[in-house]
Amino acid sequence: MITETLSAAAPYLIQQDYAAYTDEQHAVWAELVGRAMPELQKHAAREYLEGFEIIGLQRSRLPNLRSVSARLAPRTGWNSSPVSGFLPAPAFFEMLAARRFPTTTWLRTRDSLEYTPEPDIFHDVFGHVPMHAHKVFADFLEHYGRVCAGISDSGVLEKLGRLFWYTVEFGTIHQNGEIKVYGSGLISSHGECMNVMGGHCAIHDFTLDEVLATPVKVDELHKLLFAVSSFDQIYDAMHDAEQRTLEGRL
Ligand SMILES: [Fe+2]
Repeated sequence: MITETLSAAAPYLIQQDYAAYTDEQHAVWAELVGRAMPELQKHAAREYLEGFEIIGLQRSRLPNLRSVSARLAPRTGWNSSPVSGFLPAPAFFEMLAARRFPTTTWLRTRDSLEYTPEPDIFHDVFGHVPMHAHKVFADFLEHYGRVCAGISDSGVLEKLGRLFWYTVEFGTIHQNGEIKVYGSGLISSHGECMNVMGGHCAIHDFTLDEVLATPVKVDELHKLLFAVSSFDQIYDAMHDAEQRTLEGRL
């Protein structure tokens, strides 16, 4: 385990005790993936589905983060690093800047398949990590972490948090004349995904200005999300956001 480059995040790094997962937990993972995949084959961005194969996720067994990282690292330099739970912002940004995705190792139980108040391994690995195999997305996410790690102004961080929320967590993309999902909150939540696909959520073309002006609401299904035309758009938006930050006009 590489810990020497991390300071703020170091206390949160753990090992994944893969052998400790029970048959029931593997079965819950299999059920979650089995429920989500038929919808995602229709509605997920091509890059997400490619990433799922690239990182070698299995449908019937919980992911071993060491194996996931071994397949991901040569491709984009990212890895999936086990952490003990929710990270304070400086630790989270420090890890993103180092291309290490903080990944929880616990799994929701069968009686809360649809919703968990905090991210679990299904949200983190099934939802997030496949996109880290995409080079442009991978570069964007590192840059996001690097910029945020250097900011202490909470108002600026809140604005940048909106950019993260409406891309990494709840992003959609125009593909083949349709809206496809790539944000982990859509990928890992049937209800959120169907809210979008059922037409219950307005989808505006992504602009940095509107994203930065749209507060995040966590207590209801989304009424407005944003679709990029390509992942280059979020890469460019992050550079734009960095420039605005440097000039004090975010
Ligand atoms: Fe997330």
